[in-house]
Amino acid sequence: MFEWKQEYANGIDEIDRQHQKLFALAGDLYDIANRKDGFDYHDEITQVFGALSDYTVYHFQYEEKLMKQQGYGLRDLAAHCTEHDDFIQKMRKVAQEDLDKKQRQVLMDVVMFAVDWIEKHILGSDRRYAAYHIKS
Ligand SMILES: [Fe+2]
Ligand SMILES: [Fe+2]
Repeated sequence: MFEWKQEYANGIDEIDRQHQKLFALAGDLYDIANRKDGFDYHDEITQVFGALSDYTVYHFQYEEKLMKQQGYGLRDLAAHCTEHDDFIQKMRKVAQEDLDKKQRQVLMDVVMFAVDWIEKHILGSDRRYAAYHIKS
């Protein structure tokens, strides 16, 4: 489920590259959460989770700038930004509350949530603006 698939390609190379990176970071996090050697990995989990969150913010900002530059419809832009913001809020909430408790199940849940969300978002909202971008 952490593999970037060709069906995610939306015709904008830089965006595809960024989406691939999101999947790679989520996969890294999943791998750490899945280690069963008895070690804690708290620092590494925090670090990779931070990297995923930071890269997500970077990617969303990149997309939003692109949509604005291309004159994407304001209503669609606002709806898209709201989806981004909701996701960031969710990630921040997890980072503040749950990760401190070092619960691996929580981490697994959030990785699953993130990958599922990213996939749906790429195939839905991102695909719509990419189609607009390529047309214009
Ligand atoms: Fe995206
Ligand atoms: Fe997006």
